[in-house]
Amino acid sequence: MFCVCGSSAQANMANRGGLLMVFWLWCSVISIACAARLGSESRQKLEVQKHLNRLNKSPVKSIKSPDGDIIDCVHISHQPAFDHPYLKDHKIQMRPNYHPEGLFDDNKASAKPKERTNPINQLWHANGKCPEGTIPVRRTKEDDVLRASSVKRYGKKKHRSIPQPRSADPDLTNESGHQHAIAYVEGDKYYGAKATINVWEPKIQQSNEFSLSQLWILGGSFGQDLNSIEAGWQVSPDLYGDNNTRLFTYWTSDAYQATGCYNLLCSGFIQINSEIAMGASISPVSSYRNSQYDISILIWKDPTEGHWWMQFGNDYVLGYWPSFLFSYLADSASMIEWGGEVVNSEADGRHTSTQMGSGRFPEEGFGKASYFRNVQVVDGSNNLKAPKGIGTFTEQSNCYDVQTGSNGDWGHYFYFGGPGKNPNCP
Ligand SMILES: *[C@@H]1O[C@H](CO)[C@@H](O)[C@H](O)[C@H]1NC(C)=O
Ligand SMILES: *[C@@H]1O[C@H](CO)[C@@H](O)[C@H](O)[C@H]1NC(C)=O
Repeated sequence: MFCVCGSSAQANMANRGGLLMVFWLWCSVISIACAARLGSESRQKLEVQKHLNRLNKSPVKSIKSPDGDIIDCVHISHQPAFDHPYLKDHKIQMRPNYHPEGLFDDNKASAKPKERTNPINQLWHANGKCPEGTIPVRRTKEDDVLRASSVKRYGKKKHRSIPQPRSADPDLTNESGHQHAIAYVEGDKYYGAKATINVWEPKIQQSNEFSLSQLWILGGSFGQDLNSIEAGWQVSPDLYGDNNTRLFTYWTSDAYQATGCYNLLCSGFIQINSEIAMGASISPVSSYRNSQYDISILIWKDPTEGHWWMQFGNDYVLGYWPSFLFSYLADSASMIEWGGEVVNSEADGRHTSTQMGSGRFPEEGFGKASYFRNVQVVDGSNNLKAPKGIGTFTEQSNCYDVQTGSNGDWGHYFYFGGPGKNPNCP
């Protein structure tokens, strides 16, 4: 005889008289423990379910992507942004009032055939399109939430992880376990930034690590009220449940504490585009000594409404972060960063072998290393300009490095990345 959670063994035993009394008492203890455990399990299940109901709006149509994602086409006025109390009566702006003028002709192929690159797509496009008036939203599954440390933390960054080039406290930057290889500008007022980033699928050693390439639009000093808007591509097994390269955004107005999230995983960003899904896989990716694929990302501030807009490629204006979400960024950005970040959890006491970019050092150059090209900033007159006084930063250049350059075709550019663990980065 044995006690089983939720069984009627106890009642049966109680009927068999005194000899079983001890056993009965023991079973009672077990069943109280059972009830407590089942109680907390079902409470958690309920909490997860409630969160999923909040995030997953009822779709007009759903599309199954070859990577296993479900893309829900959600009516534009039912998107997560409108759960925000400040956005209850918000009138969606369907296009930006201004668009910054660039230095480069985005439609012109590179003059050097050797450096030709290809446009990129999202994997789910293979299986359908979202109707007009809807936006594509990657459906959050129960497993996605369960992989997070808690329902509250799902979709949020775990650590403060902004690279702090000059003012960096070395101990702190190393302690947080995040490693960067970036280029940056500071000391002016910036109203946006643009770059073309080539896309790879870096290997991740541990599922709790990630590797990303992105730009950061930063406002404020690096205190508890740091404002940040981020966009790029990432591989993050914990967040997405696989090793695919995905388009992502992030925002926070308090240094990753209470506000902000990835993609549309909280209310904030207002999406207007029906073709590009945040958090969806991008395909194809670049391969070593072979075809190179890159994406351009432009983020800029609309001078009239003050919202921060995002454009993907030449054709897709994705939407905007309303100005009220931010404090410092409600005015302008004080720093722009471009580059890579990985988590180095040192699981086996050695540096992670999680790759940054292509997993190759910048010296290898085109077709091998990852790059940002045509790096520009938006000035106060809404013009895209070459950034002045670009600096670079990396915690351990033997693990991941960065090298800048400039030429007519690519304007300001840099190669960056590395393999992580190697003989010089033990
Ligand atoms: C981080 O730690 C490594 C190894 O302990 C050290 O070589 C490097 O200088 C540190 N980086 C910074 C920015 O302090
Ligand atoms: C992701 O890649 C790692 C190795 O880099 C592998 O161990 C893991 O199984 C992969 N995860 C998925 C979900 O494919």
